Amino acid sequence: MTRNNNENISFDEFDDLNSDRDGEAEIYGIIERAMNRRGFLGAGAAFAAAALTGGPALLAPGRADAAMAGRLAFAAVAANSEDTITVPQGYTWNVVAAWGDPLWTGAAGFDHATRGTGESQEKAFGDNTDGMYLFSYRGRSILTVNNEYVNVPIIYGNRDSKKPETADDVRKGKAGHGITVMEIALKDGKWGIVKDSPFNRRITADSPMQITGPAAGHDWLKTAADPTGTQSLGTWNNCANGHTPWGTYLTCEENFNGYFSSSDDAYEPTDAMKRYGIGKKDWGYNWAMTDDRFDISKHPNECNRAGYVVEIDPFDPASTPRKRTALGRFKHENAEVVVNPDGHVVVYLGDDERGEFLYRFVSAGKYVKGGDNRDLLETGTLSVARFGDDMRGQWVALTPATTGMASQAEICIHTRQAASKVGATTMDRPEWVAANPTRAEVYCSLTNNKNRGKKPNAGGDATPVGGPNPRADNRYGQIVRWRPDGGDHTAEGFAWDLFVLAGNPTVHQDDRKGSANVTADNMFNSPDGLKFDASGILWIQTDGNYSNAKDFAGQGNNQMLAADADTGEIRRFLVGPKECEITGLTWSADRRTMFVGIQHPGERGDSHFPGGGDSVPRSCIIAVARADGAVIG
Ligand code: FEO
Ligand code: CA
Ligand code: CA
Repeated sequence: MTRNNNENISFDEFDDLNSDRDGEAEIYGIIERAMNRRGFLGAGAAFAAAALTGGPALLAPGRADAAMAGRLAFAAVAANSEDTITVPQGYTWNVVAAWGDPLWTGAAGFDHATRGTGESQEKAFGDNTDGMYLFSYRGRSILTVNNEYVNVPIIYGNRDSKKPETADDVRKGKAGHGITVMEIALKDGKWGIVKDSPFNRRITADSPMQITGPAAGHDWLKTAADPTGTQSLGTWNNCANGHTPWGTYLTCEENFNGYFSSSDDAYEPTDAMKRYGIGKKDWGYNWAMTDDRFDISKHPNECNRAGYVVEIDPFDPASTPRKRTALGRFKHENAEVVVNPDGHVVVYLGDDERGEFLYRFVSAGKYVKGGDNRDLLETGTLSVARFGDDMRGQWVALTPATTGMASQAEICIHTRQAASKVGATTMDRPEWVAANPTRAEVYCSLTNNKNRGKKPNAGGDATPVGGPNPRADNRYGQIVRWRPDGGDHTAEGFAWDLFVLAGNPTVHQDDRKGSANVTADNMFNSPDGLKFDASGILWIQTDGNYSNAKDFAGQGNNQMLAADADTGEIRRFLVGPKECEITGLTWSADRRTMFVGIQHPGERGDSHFPGGGDSVPRSCIIAVARADGAVIG
């Protein structure tokens, strides 16, 4: 759960409290809400149940393959609240890299007393590991990892205030963000960092970036430091990721807004800023203390230079990352890349905020194996999803003609506003999107949305109960899936259903109990990370309520589950330590090791993972393998 360090509440709650939208809730009458809910849930639940039991569902299993039965070949683990990792019997785990581990010899190791300095952090693995991908290069394993944000009370736990107080504190915080590129290797049976590898690199909130695509050079991107509007500094709040078949890494800027503040109390943020949650107060990082770029009263365009998907060449540490504005500006979760049968590159993208949207980019050019594919993400069509209660949906292109906006550049900067203009479906916080490698079928985690049916999104769009968002005050989340018409990811139309409605069948008997494939043994809340392995198993990671009480009784710590996309069966594979979320998943080239991200253990002060004792809790990547060395995933 991404937390706002100022208020000890989550980022989305902070934005929500600071938006003035309560008054509009009355437009949704209670009776109307209830009727809508009955109307859709009847059909939706029946539909989901039918899909899961192999009945006459719209998205019936794509193939009848007896060999696929019982594919989740491990013994489920029980929910728990331990301060460690739990994996199935016959599996092992070890820590590969933890926050503050140095990438070069000569750089200081992690210091539990100081929690590092600006200099040590610039040479070490960043904080809050998130999306990642392992590239194989001439037999070497290059792990490219997002460091989403820093846990302020932990990274500054050496200060009485537990906040950044000095210029070096801010430098440390900025260096704790970004991306870590590090070679890893097996040594004595355990994966670890290869120090001094020529591939090792840190990209932080101060690294030079090139802005490319339709918005590059637009007036809204020009600043005092960069009158061209094409050269920015840094990437931050890099949440989840993607990778391309031409060997690049995609990192997605999510809650980029929480770093901006105003030194002038009288400054009034623009409506465009408010749509993205940019206000006068940051979330406790204090970057404007040393860097004017983050002061919106002085540099109001700087915030337009963040909120993009950034493409990185992991094999060239001297390369400049490229912000691909064609993929839109919003709170990007991940970027799931599919090469369509006709060669167009399709990227599915979620905007993780209550009531925001789901997007698709289709490249103008086509992927050619071995060809020059470097700029395929430069030009194409950005669309947004509309879902109907009839289990059908369509992609609506965002163009000057459809939106009435002046140019594609404006659409790529004010993407949320563009999507609102075409009546896109407000969603329950789209997190990761994952494409099934065995057929044209795509899944998206809709993690939760307590505002559903109660409150519009930041743009004032209604959030009625219905379609793939069937529950008011949605505390558990769901996973929606769709199949593009004709198996063509560039098609306008698609059919959709719900793969799972998370819930708690031990506490509730109404729609909060979840869909038929949710049981007392596998229940969870707040699906977030989502990724298919090469065999077609869907892995679900959670970032939810770990109180293990009341609505969440019996669900324990955040966890990772495996799902059979054909049968709907879901089985718990891993439970994380206290107060963590599980996020980020990739595999070794031989698929005998699965790398899993453990983010923010102890975010509320109750964990010492992974060191134990009195040690500082540290986000880390773990390697999970079978004791017998067999392939997993
Ligand atoms: Fe960084 Fe939406 O999770
Ligand atoms: Ca996430
Ligand atoms: Ca989340």
